[in-house]
Amino acid sequence: MARTKFVCGNWKMHKTQAEARELVRALAPLCAPLGGKVQVAVAPPFTALAAAAEALRGSPLELGAQDVHWEKQGAFTGAVSAPMLAEAGVKHVIVGHSERRQLFGETDETVRKKVGAVLAANLLPIVCVGETLAEREAGKTLEVVGRQLRGGLSGLQAPALAAVTVAYEPVWAIGTGKTATSAQAQEVHQALRAILRELCGAGADSIRIQYGGSVKPDNAAELMSQPDVDGALVGGASLKADDFIQIVRGALR
Ligand code: PGA
Repeated sequence: MARTKFVCGNWKMHKTQAEARELVRALAPLCAPLGGKVQVAVAPPFTALAAAAEALRGSPLELGAQDVHWEKQGAFTGAVSAPMLAEAGVKHVIVGHSERRQLFGETDETVRKKVGAVLAANLLPIVCVGETLAEREAGKTLEVVGRQLRGGLSGLQAPALAAVTVAYEPVWAIGTGKTATSAQAQEVHQALRAILRELCGAGADSIRIQYGGSVKPDNAAELMSQPDVDGALVGGASLKADDFIQIVRGALR
């Protein structure tokens, strides 16, 4: 089944408000001619969301956030809730990125709670899964990503699952310049799709599974040519308009 490819830039802790405005202003006109054939989003840090929202207004470029808290409000110093993100113009929320898991104590259980909060605010979660190098070398890749996917999505039924995007990001490929081969990516994506089918039947065929981990202009098209690779979650290469747009164009090939 044909799924519209979805490319999202994860800016991580980069870009001030002024820099975000500048990058979005460069990207927005480049996205217009895509005519909806690829869905494109950027996820700036919280402080730059409002500036980015204003700069992309009227363009097909969409706004994402990099994390969220599962409660709507309360005594959670430093946290930001899904309704707050919605009001800031956000549409997509990255949940369970491996940096959150490794550096900030994110677990499958907190991912599950965050996904629920994102959906409750009518936002769209991008749920990240991925194995470490040690796990891959121990032959545990499919076991690990399967556990993360089932854990993060547990309790969700078919209609809610349709709003989810999954991102497969092998930890060893993130920021290292070492990309998974397209065959390695396809193997994992196919396994993730099989799990999604168990969870929601034929609805799984319309769920996008992005690949992430050192996606660059020169490998993006090959990765996204795989049958179950439905787009990309791009870190470093999303910080430069030219590189990011070349990756987006790679989704058209
Ligand atoms: P990278 O990051 O493209 O810089 O490897 C991807 C990600 O962490 O989402």
